Amino acid sequence: MNETTDLFTREDPIFTNKELLEISHLPEEGRIVGRDDEIKQLANVVNPAIFGQSPSNVLIYGKTGTGKSLCAKYVSQQLIDTAAEESVSADAAYVDCAQDTTETQTVQTIASTLNEPDRTDINIPDKGISTATYYKRLWNILDQRHDVVLIILDEIDKLEDDSILMQLSRAGEAGKISSCKIGVIGISNKIKYKDRMDERVKSSLCEREYVFPPYDANQLDRIMRARSDAFREGVLEDGVIPRTAALAAREHGDARKAIDILRYAGEIAQSTGATTVSEDFVNQARKRAETDRFRELIRGSTPHSRYVLQALTILSLDNSEQESFRTSNIYDVYEQICRQ
Ligand SMILES: Nc1ncnc2c1ncn2[C@@H]1O[C@H](COP(=O)(O)OP(=O)(O)OP(=O)(O)O)[C@@H](O)[C@H]1O
Ligand SMILES: [Mg+2]
Repeated sequence: MNETTDLFTREDPIFTNKELLEISHLPEEGRIVGRDDEIKQLANVVNPAIFGQSPSNVLIYGKTGTGKSLCAKYVSQQLIDTAAEESVSADAAYVDCAQDTTETQTVQTIASTLNEPDRTDINIPDKGISTATYYKRLWNILDQRHDVVLIILDEIDKLEDDSILMQLSRAGEAGKISSCKIGVIGISNKIKYKDRMDERVKSSLCEREYVFPPYDANQLDRIMRARSDAFREGVLEDGVIPRTAALAAREHGDARKAIDILRYAGEIAQSTGATTVSEDFVNQARKRAETDRFRELIRGSTPHSRYVLQALTILSLDNSEQESFRTSNIYDVYEQICRQ
């Protein structure tokens, strides 16, 4: 017998199509569940683009994992496809403002996404030109190449200031662009975000606002079932999806968490050599999802919030019997960490 047949398994015993459960995966229409109304509303807002008019600007709010990014991307893609059928050149630029926090980074990302250097003969370097030059090149690209563009500013509350919003929402009025129309879709999970916006930006950016509610257990159940073909047939035990849905609904109605737990449960089955995914794995997977969530939260926080957290961790490890610490104690440790 060939030894390698013993050493390796040739087929994944649990998953057949694991990509369906990856968070970056953009599900197709049939797998988007429970957001028909929201998708229709968003489509209405951007619809004028197809007959050459300006789309309205819109702000989408909602807690984490409620499908905001998904629906915005989905509707933009649908718009691009439908516009193309009508010989209208539409495009979309997606900006993750948690990554591109400054005005310059944001305008750079938008310009380089929408640019086709072979056709426009415009170069958008990663750095080395002024913000004003990026803008000039962006306006130029827009008028040369596009009838309409949607600009999705995801996690818009992470932007350092409103300057880019002002520029984008007034580009037409200010005569920066002549033929191209711009629609801005802002997305945030901070419902109070609008309060700190400049009045002028607010009036043009918040023409429409939508709040995406958390999912209930039933919707989460359907979202996961619509992707259950990620697993081999018969691998998921009956109680797994309902249990995962119930856990995720009880916590925050967060679809990302539900999908994460389901994937992890499968991975646990895989690594333990089990042939089916049982409810027991769901409980273990939930703990892992929780850890991941915290890791992400910590990674996304500012350096000094991390130092404070580190100070608190050190204190807790050194005094495991103590349940709370005085702010002054935490501050002392924090100061040492800063000095290091
Ligand atoms: N209605 C839905 N149908 C199918 N999958 C969904 C649905 N809503 C969300 N998902 C999936 O859940 C995950 C999280 O969704 P999404 O990224 O859109 O959330 P979000 O509201 O943007 O969250 P955050 O505020 O954390 O960015 C994604 O993998 C997405 O594909
Ligand atoms: Mg999002």
